[in-house]
Amino acid sequence: MTHKLLLLAGDGIGPEAMAEVKKLIAVMNENGASFVTEEGLVGGCAYDAHGAAISDADMAKATAADAVLFGAVGGPKWDGVPYDVRPEAGLLRLRKDLELFANLRPAICYPALASSSSLKQDVIEGLDILILRELTGGVYFGEPKQITDLGNGQKRAVDTQVYDTYEIERIAAMAFELARTRNNHVTSMEKRNVMKSGVLWNEVVTATHKAYSDVKLDHMLADAGGMQLVRWPKQFDVIVTDNLFGDMLSDVAAMLTGSLGMLPSASLGAPDAKTGKRKALYEPVHGSAPDIAGKGIANPIAMIASFAMCLRYSFDMVVEADRLEAAIAAVLADGLRTKDIMSDGMREVGTVEMGDAIIAKY
Ligand code: NAI
Ligand code: MG
Repeated sequence: MTHKLLLLAGDGIGPEAMAEVKKLIAVMNENGASFVTEEGLVGGCAYDAHGAAISDADMAKATAADAVLFGAVGGPKWDGVPYDVRPEAGLLRLRKDLELFANLRPAICYPALASSSSLKQDVIEGLDILILRELTGGVYFGEPKQITDLGNGQKRAVDTQVYDTYEIERIAAMAFELARTRNNHVTSMEKRNVMKSGVLWNEVVTATHKAYSDVKLDHMLADAGGMQLVRWPKQFDVIVTDNLFGDMLSDVAAMLTGSLGMLPSASLGAPDAKTGKRKALYEPVHGSAPDIAGKGIANPIAMIASFAMCLRYSFDMVVEADRLEAAIAAVLADGLRTKDIMSDGMREVGTVEMGDAIIAKY
């Protein structure tokens, strides 16, 4: 069976990081895998080519693909372009049109990097947790959303948090399913003490849990959850939370373990009624890093680890995903470091050399 991938490398360091994944895909294909890749434009480069952050033609390719690999978009060159065609609009359209309602952000501590965390080594060593953030609902999208002039020198800003039962059900179900492939433990975070959406969130997660009673479920208030993440993150396995809390908590969790250049993510949609396949987009957490673009020093690990997530979640290639993640860990254990994660006594390498080393260990 062939796997159709759309590669959208984007701007800045996006193409540099994507080039390492392309080499890896070629090697995997030589060894019996059957990835078919197409490429498209997204972000500033798409705007330069046809005045939109992603063209309808590339959007159609994304819809037809089994998975999208996304690099990064944006940069100072496009700071002045109109709001609805700014580079980020390409990513937002992909998320919206593919209905990618779930954002998976792992926080993994590679043993070789445990001593460079800002937290104590025993707090962080061996950490492997997953934050599951609802991505298409909540306060970022709820209506009304406006600023009104009250006419007395005052203005009033309104954002609205809205969640329907089905939106909570599907993200909760995904959390329980993911937990079953990990350590069987879900912690749901909301603020039911002050928010009606938190009351419903708690209720629906609890009801959804009935079909997954083999998985342990805890509820935690999101602010307390933030404290616990920093105090003893290893108490968690899967954390499921709404769009706003998830945005913050996933950034906090990510930084427990080191550099932006290390962090992968996945955004998944609902399974197709006929094929059971989910729409999916995989991307590093970092942006286009204009300050280092073109210098050959970007860390490709976030992009490569995003591809490992693609193997795991889109293609059920669990063995290959494990092997790729082990290859990353092994290269780090050998002391290879890009500039962003460099420390005393280690060997500094560029993007290409890091990619080659990981491929050699794979
Ligand atoms: P950024 O993530 O691009 O860079 C922040 C800092 O981290 C920079 O110093 C950069 O050099 C470093 N960094 C990031 N990724 C790295 C890697 N792989 N290897 C080594 N160092 C790395 O965030 P920033 O500077 O806030 O934004 C730059 C541009 O990227 C902006 O136009 C922003 O809008 C865009 N952006 C795009 C995102 C996306 O495509 N999903 C996400 C975040 C920002
Ligand atoms: Mg964020």
